[in-house]
Parts: sequence; C-alpha cells; structure tokens
Amino acid sequence: MHKVIFDTDPGVDDAMALLFLHQHPDIDLLGITTIFGNASIETTTRNALFLKNAWDIPAPVAKGVAETIDPARAHVDWPVMIHGHDGLGNIGVPDTVEGEPDARPAHRFIIDTVRAHPGEVTLVAVGRMTNLARALAEDPEIVSLVKAVVIMGGAFDVAGNITPAAEANIHGDPEAADIVMGAAWPVTVIGLDVTMKTVMTRPALAAIAAASGPRAKLLADISDFYIDFYAHIVADGMVVHDSCACVYVVAPELFTTRTGAIRVVCGGIADGQTIQKADGRSFPPSPWDELPSQTVCTDIDADAVMALITETL
Ligand code: BDR
Ligand code: CA
Repeated sequence: MHKVIFDTDPGVDDAMALLFLHQHPDIDLLGITTIFGNASIETTTRNALFLKNAWDIPAPVAKGVAETIDPARAHVDWPVMIHGHDGLGNIGVPDTVEGEPDARPAHRFIIDTVRAHPGEVTLVAVGRMTNLARALAEDPEIVSLVKAVVIMGGAFDVAGNITPAAEANIHGDPEAADIVMGAAWPVTVIGLDVTMKTVMTRPALAAIAAASGPRAKLLADISDFYIDFYAHIVADGMVVHDSCACVYVVAPELFTTRTGAIRVVCGGIADGQTIQKADGRSFPPSPWDELPSQTVCTDIDADAVMALITETL
C-alpha cells in the first residue's frame, strides 16, 4: 500500500488524478493539500472540499499558502480559459461547500503526517511546489523521512506550455521548484515530455461515466470545458497531466527515466525552465556536482497508462 499526500490545485486534470488516487486499491490517500495555480487558493481549496464530498473521500483537506515562496515574484493570472472561472470547468460549483479544511496549514499538515509515518509517505505534487518548499524550510529533517516525491511539472527536452521555456506548475513558482528538486529527498519529475502523450478522449470518458456511474459522470461534466480548450492540441480529448504522476506511484515500470541533478531557471527570458545535468562529475568541476541526482521521465507507455487510468476510474 502506498501512503500518499496529494498536493494539488483543482483544476480539471487534478480532479481526475484525485479520483484515480481515491479509487486505486494500492493507494492509501492520507491527505489532500491545496495550492494556488489553476485558480486562487480559496477556489482550489473549496474545490478540493467539493470533490471530497462528492466522491466520499475520507482524507482531510489542508489549505495551502496563497503566495509564491518569494513574495516579490509577480502574480501569474489564473488560467480561466483552461479550467474555467470555478476551476472545475464552469460546472457551477457552489460558492460555499460543506466541511472545513484541517486546522493546520498545508505545509504543517505535510510535516506532521510525514513525521507520523517515517519513511512511508509519498508526496505527489501536481501544482506549484510552494507548500513543499515551505515544509522543507520549516522542518528540513523531512528530507530523510519522506519515501518519495513525485512531481508533475517541467519540460526538459520539449517546449513549455506557458512560455517556450516553461511549464505552468514550475513557471508559477520557480524558486519553490528549485528548492524542492534540489533537496536531498528522492524526486521523480514527470513533465510535458511524457504527459503530452497521454490523452483521454471525450468518448472514452463518456464510456467510463456510463460504465461506472455518478462519480465518473461528474468527472466527465467537469472535463468538458477543458476538452474544448485542448481542441487546438489534441482531437476531442484532454491531456491527463496530473494523473500521470499518480500512475507513476503504482506503476513506475510504465515510464522510461534518466538521472541527474536538476535546476530551475529563476528569472529572465527562460524563467521557470527546468534543466537536468547528466550524472557524473563535470570538467571543470561545477556546483551542480554537489546537487542530489534526481529522476526525470523521458518516455511513457501511454497506452498502458491510459488503460490503467480507465480501469481505475
Ligand atoms: C499542469 O498545469 C495545470 O494547469 C495542470 O493542472 C497541470 O498540473 C500542466 O502544465
Ligand atoms: Ca495541477
């Protein structure tokens, strides 16, 4: 059983990933921590509670920070054209929903949960990395207590989706991503290099909804708007970025990887770009040599990943 904390900004593809985590038999979802990104922190937290209620998810929701790790960083607008004004495809999520977030802020919830299960918790982060960076700043010892960190973000050998250099989750808080990927805990990064190969078509989602009932029907309704947005990229379907990170937890064999230190460009024309250096010492010696080697996914068995997502949903 994989104990998971899901750090998320729901968000349409985040919603699918959450349902995958909730329904996969080998996942024990310990908590949902929210972050701004696809919408404000108030909206993503409201959405997490809404999905928790709709899908009977027992895991608590803990609200994350509202600001980038460097408060001086300029605000990036919410992508309402992708995720809708309500962050869930304009289905009309009520302004207030039943239930309250955990009393602790997300980064404190992460620290406490990791300390309660030393060596067992996988952090799956599919939004800005701000909560994880805050947790590291407050309790650096968690680097040796976390089992693994799996990130959806970045673009290594392909173009970004927010700028030619940067993917959205990294671009929204590059300093936080640089801290998280440079920390001495085992990180796996699943970026656009592989996620762009994973498409759930509208008919496939409709078939899942028909076969498995109201939970998947809600997911299909939420996804309609996002599928319309993706029409200029893929035919009648959506890229399931965040679900890829969840699949990696239970089926890493479906991914091809390479290892090496990672840095994130913080500022300038390539703000938010992710760069990986191949393992091995540099000549002349470089500060990169002192960074931990992390894992980046370079390819994916997209058919098998989509089959696993379909079966789980
Ligand atoms: C990432 O950005 C967000 O819009 C999605 O939820 C996903 O986490 C893809 O670049
Ligand atoms: Ca996301």
